[in-house]
Amino acid sequence: MNALLANGLLTVVLAAATMRGTAVLGFTGATLVMDQDIPTRSHCKYSRAYSMIQVRCANQGLSAIPSNLKTEIQIMDASVNRVRSLTNDSLSSYTNLAYLYLGDNFIQEIQEGAFDNLRYLKVIDLSTNGCDTLPKSLFRLPYLQKVYLANNRLGDDQFKDVAVRSPLIFLQLSENKLGKIPQLGPVPTLMHLNVSGNNIVTVTTEDLAPYCSLKVLDLSRNPIKFDAGSCECGTLNAWLRLRGIRSQPAYNCTEEQERGGCSASSSEFSNRTVELYGRCSEILRQQAATEKARNTWILIACCIAGFLLCLFVGLLCVHKRNKRRKKKLKEQQRLNANNANTELLNSNLNQPENNT
Ligand SMILES: *[C@@H]1O[C@H](CO)[C@@H](O)[C@H](O)[C@H]1NC(C)=O
Ligand SMILES: *[C@@H]1O[C@H](CO)[C@@H](O)[C@H](O)[C@H]1NC(C)=O
Ligand SMILES: *[C@@H]1O[C@H](CO)[C@@H](O)[C@H](O)[C@H]1NC(C)=O
Ligand SMILES: *[C@@H]1O[C@H](CO)[C@@H](O)[C@H](O)[C@H]1NC(C)=O
Repeated sequence: MNALLANGLLTVVLAAATMRGTAVLGFTGATLVMDQDIPTRSHCKYSRAYSMIQVRCANQGLSAIPSNLKTEIQIMDASVNRVRSLTNDSLSSYTNLAYLYLGDNFIQEIQEGAFDNLRYLKVIDLSTNGCDTLPKSLFRLPYLQKVYLANNRLGDDQFKDVAVRSPLIFLQLSENKLGKIPQLGPVPTLMHLNVSGNNIVTVTTEDLAPYCSLKVLDLSRNPIKFDAGSCECGTLNAWLRLRGIRSQPAYNCTEEQERGGCSASSSEFSNRTVELYGRCSEILRQQAATEKARNTWILIACCIAGFLLCLFVGLLCVHKRNKRRKKKLKEQQRLNANNANTELLNSNLNQPENNT
C-alpha cells in the first residue's frame, strides 16, 4: 500500500518535471517541440573543465544541436549523435565556443555561415561524418588551430581556393577522398598534417613547400607511386630530411637509385619549390618582425606610463608636503597670534594693577 502511494507520488513528480522541461523548451524555441526527432528534454550536462564552461550532450540521439543551451558555453561535446546538418543558425548563439566536438554524427550539409559567429573557435572535430563540402569561411576563423576531419568524404576540390587565414597548426584528414596533398596556399603555422588512408598517388616537394613549419606528415595507406624515370622519390626524401619533417611511411627509392643519375641534394629542388617555401617563410619573418615591433612599442608605452606614474606620484608628494608645510605655518602663525594675543591680554590685565 505504502509502496503504491510512493510510486504514485513519484509518477506525479516525474510528470511535473517533464511538463516543466517541455514548458521551458517551448518557451525558448517553439520549433524544437514540434520536431519529433528531438527529445523534449535534453540531457546535456554542464560542468567546468580547465576553468571553462562545458556542456556534454554526447550520445543522446540528438538530430540537431540543441538551441536552448546556455549561450556562454565554451566547450561543447555533441559527438555520437544523429545530427545531419549544420545550418547558419545551429551554432550562431554560442558565440563563446572554443572547443566544438561533433565527431561521429551524420553531418552532410554545412551551410556557408554555420561557423561565422564562432569567433573564438580553437578546435573543431568533425571526424566520422559524411561531409563532402566544407564552408570556406571555416579556415578564416581568427583563432582556429586544430581541425579534425578524418573519416569524411572530402575531395581535392574542397581545398582548392581556400585561403587559410586561421593560425592552423593541426589538420587531420585521414580516410577521405583526397587525390593529392591539399593545396591550402602558404600556411606558415601548420605543423601536423595527417592524410593517411586517402587516394593520393603523387607527392612532390612543391606540394609540401607551402607548409614551411611542417614537422609531422602521415602519408601512410595511400597508393603513392614515384616516376622511376625522374628523381622524385629521392628529392622528396631529401626535402623531408632537410626540413626535419617526420613522415611515414619511409619511401624506398631503390628503383631510382638503380637507374643512377639522381643525386638528391638541396640544389636539385625545383625553382617552384624554393619559391613556395620562400613565400611561406617570408610570412613567418613578417609575423616575427610585427611581433617584435609590437613588443617594442609595448615596452616603450610601459616605460612612458611608468615615468608618468612616477612623475605624478612625485608631484603629489611635493604637493602634499607643501600643503602640510603651509598648514604648519598657518598653525604656527595662529599660535603665534594667539600667544601675542594672550601676551597682550596679559599685559592689558597687568596694566591696571600697575596703575593702581
Ligand atoms: C548562410 O550564411 C551565408 C553567409 O553568411 C549566406 O551566404 C547564406 O545565404 C546563408 N544561407 C542561408 C540558407 O541562410
Ligand atoms: C593519422 O591518422 C590515423 C588514422 O586516424 C592514425 O592511425 C595515425 O596514428 C595518425 N598519424 C599520426 C602521425 O598521428
Ligand atoms: C627497398 O625495396 C627493394 C625492392 O624493391 C628491397 O630489396 C629493399 O630491401 C628495400 N629497402 C628497404 C630499406 O626497405
Ligand atoms: C631556376 O632559377 C635559376 C636562377 O634563379 C635559373 O637560372 C633557372 O633557369 C631556373 N630554372 C627553371 C627551370 O626555371
